[in-house]
Amino acid sequence: MAENTPSNGPGNGRGDGSSPPLVYMRDITMRFGLIEALRDVDFVVNSGEVVGLLGDNGAGKSTLIKVLTGIHPPTTGQIYFEGKPVIIDSPKTARALGIETVYQDLALVNLMSIARNFYLGREPQQQIGPVRFMDKEVMNSQTVEALDHIGIEIRRPEEEVLRLSGGERQSIAIGRCVFFGSKLLILDEPTSALSVGETKKVLDYTLAAKEAGLGVIFITHNVGHVYQVADRFTIISHGNKVGDFMRDEVSQQEIAGMIMGGPVPEKLTAVIEKRGAEERALHDLVEKAAAPTVQAAKQASARSRNTVLSVAAIGIFILLLLLAGGGVFSPASPTPTPSPTPTEEVEVPENIQTLIDQLLNDADPGRRAIAASALGAERNRHPASVEPLIQALSDESENVRESAARSLGKIGDDRARGPLEEMLRDNYSNVRNAAAEALRDAFGLSCSDAEGCR
Ligand SMILES: Nc1ncnc2c1ncn2[C@@H]1O[C@H](COP(=O)(O)OP(=O)(O)O)[C@@H](O)[C@H]1O
Ligand SMILES: [Mg+2]
Repeated sequence: MAENTPSNGPGNGRGDGSSPPLVYMRDITMRFGLIEALRDVDFVVNSGEVVGLLGDNGAGKSTLIKVLTGIHPPTTGQIYFEGKPVIIDSPKTARALGIETVYQDLALVNLMSIARNFYLGREPQQQIGPVRFMDKEVMNSQTVEALDHIGIEIRRPEEEVLRLSGGERQSIAIGRCVFFGSKLLILDEPTSALSVGETKKVLDYTLAAKEAGLGVIFITHNVGHVYQVADRFTIISHGNKVGDFMRDEVSQQEIAGMIMGGPVPEKLTAVIEKRGAEERALHDLVEKAAAPTVQAAKQASARSRNTVLSVAAIGIFILLLLLAGGGVFSPASPTPTPSPTPTEEVEVPENIQTLIDQLLNDADPGRRAIAASALGAERNRHPASVEPLIQALSDESENVRESAARSLGKIGDDRARGPLEEMLRDNYSNVRNAAAEALRDAFGLSCSDAEGCR
């Protein structure tokens, strides 16, 4: 991987047309009702390459990434991963393939140490008799070593992530992806909230990830930042791809012009044509390699369509029976009681709902712990999170239980008091301590696992 030079075309890592790229999204169209967020977009990323994904607000960048990470299945189009057609129907599937996204402030659990964050959900365990616990020494020493390996220096692995700067936090999240074998790293606006010095750090680690052989997608609207690290730029505008340009083919000013929806400079139209030919060659390459699999996938989806059709047919049949028997529409049928309206329906902001879904449904305990922690952050605190966080106090992962207890301590809602008191009997000391601290912070109680609360 390390010898992989920057690509000289979207076709593949070497530009000789022989091997398929890491990711090839082909003819992706995405509609939300009447809105067409993406129209026939082709997008390619090679291993050992940084691709800048650029476009104005609303261009479709996030939608393209959500298709790739299994959040939105595309309306039409096909994704190939390492040359094989894949159906990425959930974030879990994406992660299993080695696709990781580092979100700006959702990368780490603030109140845990650097080392614990690094291993979140993958802790080395020690067992003495029936008792299992995390091997903190191994975690500490290996975190320092692993981060040092890609050039990230940390002061102390025990330090709380809370004390780190935004750039340092992202660097550690990037280091984690490299260390645990991700193949594709997606950075969504990684530098938009950072100072100049911090930005430089994140750009350096982006290059370190590339050196380690990962493909990197760098999403931004800041051309100045991405121009320093990207090998290639893919520009989208109003859901259409404008073009793909290697760094030596295009200037910063030209990129900025195209992002703003300006005309494609004359000299670049030849490049766009050349890329089109490369994409057709790539298409043939993956098509040939993947023919039998695609056939199988098509048959499978035909089967599921048939199931849907037969379910629909049964539904119509039942409806006809009901109509014939005077069921649903007969005047004799009792008037339906209106369903009770929830008394305290609160509007839940989208970002909070996303975190709650992640807390309750993500298969990765590390992500669940991050979501639990984020729900306690000052700007996210919301009453709708209380019940899900209480539910998370029974999560199988001690990290999630700990994070949920800490967040409940921050939110300070009466519903949490009883469940937190029960947590004082958790098997894990870190969870018991978190519960005691939460009861102190939120309710002014002085509790210990041995004596209960006073
Ligand atoms: N879930 C959704 N439902 C409806 N429209 C959406 C949804 N997500 C995105 N869009 C629309 O798709 C377009 C592209 O949005 P987005 O991908 O977020 O752009 P970008 O990330 O480039 O700023 C916008 O017009 C946006 O309003
Ligand atoms: Mg976006």
